[in-house]
Amino acid sequence: MSLKEKIKSNKKLKQLTLWVLTPKNQARPRLWVRLFLTPIIHKKGKGAKICHRTRIDIMPWNKFYLGKNSTIEDFATINNGVGDIIIGDRTRIGLGNTLIGPVTIGNDIMLAQNIVMSGLNHGYEDITMSIHNQKVTTAQITIEDEAWIAANAVIVAGVTVGKHSVVAAGSVVTKDVPPYSIVGGNPAKLLKQYNPESKKWERVK
Ligand SMILES: CC(C)(COP(=O)(O)OP(=O)(O)OC[C@H]1O[C@@H](n2cnc3c(N)ncnc32)[C@H](O)[C@@H]1OP(=O)(O)O)[C@@H](O)C(=O)NCCC(=O)NCCS
Repeated sequence: MSLKEKIKSNKKLKQLTLWVLTPKNQARPRLWVRLFLTPIIHKKGKGAKICHRTRIDIMPWNKFYLGKNSTIEDFATINNGVGDIIIGDRTRIGLGNTLIGPVTIGNDIMLAQNIVMSGLNHGYEDITMSIHNQKVTTAQITIEDEAWIAANAVIVAGVTVGKHSVVAAGSVVTKDVPPYSIVGGNPAKLLKQYNPESKKWERVK
């Protein structure tokens, strides 16, 4: 049994480990974790940059990777507490974005400003218990290579945005976006798609 499995299977040990790593009721790791543990466990690609005024809540028990020449801009928040965050090469995580894992973002992607992507949802079904006390669920968000997500978009848990697609500004994306498509609105609907025969982006009726 690995150390991780041992800790997970023992309630008291799990609570103690959590307390050592994060203050009670906080979503961010303790300072010692951020200063010493995170740089050892989570590696970055060559030329990757995390700006100073970001909130990087990276927990040691899940994965975090920022690829080569990728940037996380100021005022962004990155949280891998309930799921891995993997970011590819030459990708820009824009000003004020919030990423809550599980989120996988590919290569050559542009995320504009104030985008929220959360692979986490709170359980609400049990009416005898506050939502705060119900279990969270997770579903993978995937953004494929070369996509552009415009300002103020929200991508909900479980969604895949296909290769070279555009999410228009202010959209709430609740369903998968096919490759080479433009979606917009709340809930986001298909606006345009690339037609390989005409070689044009055509309006979807
Ligand atoms: C999607 C976008 C790129 C426009 O793409 P486009 O191919 O030029 O699209 P068009 O202007 O031809 O619009 C096509 C249709 O989509 C609609 N549309 C455009 N942007 C939209 C949006 N954000 N939300 C909903 N619908 C939108 C248009 O109204 C139009 O619909 P209509 O034909 O019924 O009038 C642009 O609207 C956008 O969202 N830009 C992002 C700006 C941004 O966030 N910049 C940050 C810097 S990284």
